[in-house]
Amino acid sequence: MSEIEKSYEDFISTVSHELRTPLTSIRGFSQTMLSSWDRIDDESKKKFLKIIEDQSNRLINLVENMLSVTRISSGRDNLLLKETAIKPVVETAVSIVKSQYADKKFEIQIDDKTPSILADKDKFLQIMTNLIENAAKYGDTDSTIIIKSGFCENCEFIGIDVINTGIEIKEDDYERIFTKFSRIDNPLTRKVQGSGLGLYITKNLTEKMGGKISVKSEKQKDEKYLTTFEVQLPASNVEKQARAKCSL
Ligand SMILES: Nc1ncnc2c1ncn2[C@@H]1O[C@H](COP(=O)(O)OP(=O)(O)OP(=O)(O)O)[C@@H](O)[C@H]1O
Ligand SMILES: [Mg+2]
Repeated sequence: MSEIEKSYEDFISTVSHELRTPLTSIRGFSQTMLSSWDRIDDESKKKFLKIIEDQSNRLINLVENMLSVTRISSGRDNLLLKETAIKPVVETAVSIVKSQYADKKFEIQIDDKTPSILADKDKFLQIMTNLIENAAKYGDTDSTIIIKSGFCENCEFIGIDVINTGIEIKEDDYERIFTKFSRIDNPLTRKVQGSGLGLYITKNLTEKMGGKISVKSEKQKDEKYLTTFEVQLPASNVEKQARAKCSL
């Protein structure tokens, strides 16, 4: 088998596996509700429906990732840029990832005064889901994943950090991980599923919206590594600020 055939087969098997897991869960919970409707209390019904919603969102994210790759290579990707509040999107992304990584802890530290960004809401959700999913997938089991954004007056860009403790990303890999199909060769990456497309798409979408993305991995006192992915997206009031300046 040629190299291309091999990577194509690996890709199909990864995608099928990742599609099957949420589909199995959606089918399971719908079947349970249909067959035992009268025996399930309202609280549980709500819980099951939330799982179905989260798993469907996870599927959408997966399919969006697949579609993004073809859109990126063909240069077609329509963005709908609008004033977007950061916190609700981050909350949805956390809920999607949590449904898959129930043992992980998540902390959202987003200031109520954090300004809105100018972004395509669905693509921003895709960006956040990819980063938070990576933090859960590659972070230490007992570590808390932090999603942070502060208050910034008159800032042109708003930074959103996704932080986890875990294995080191070496400086040599800082750029490479954002390229197509690239995965770092370490025992953990070999153990967990992934197609190596998440960060490639995330970077592409961020840059299309006029933003930037970067990573740094720093050694802590306890010898563990603190990894921070920072996304910077344009503040939605930049235009207003610019206009205000002109009229001065
Ligand atoms: N938070 C992190 N900590 C350590 N390594 C990471 C982290 N995020 C990404 N990586 C490394 O970067 C690689 C590329 O990540 P990327 O999200 O593009 O692909 P993936 O997670 O392998 O697959 P998928 O396409 O399903 O997202 C990963 O395989 C992993 O080796
Ligand atoms: Mg990933």
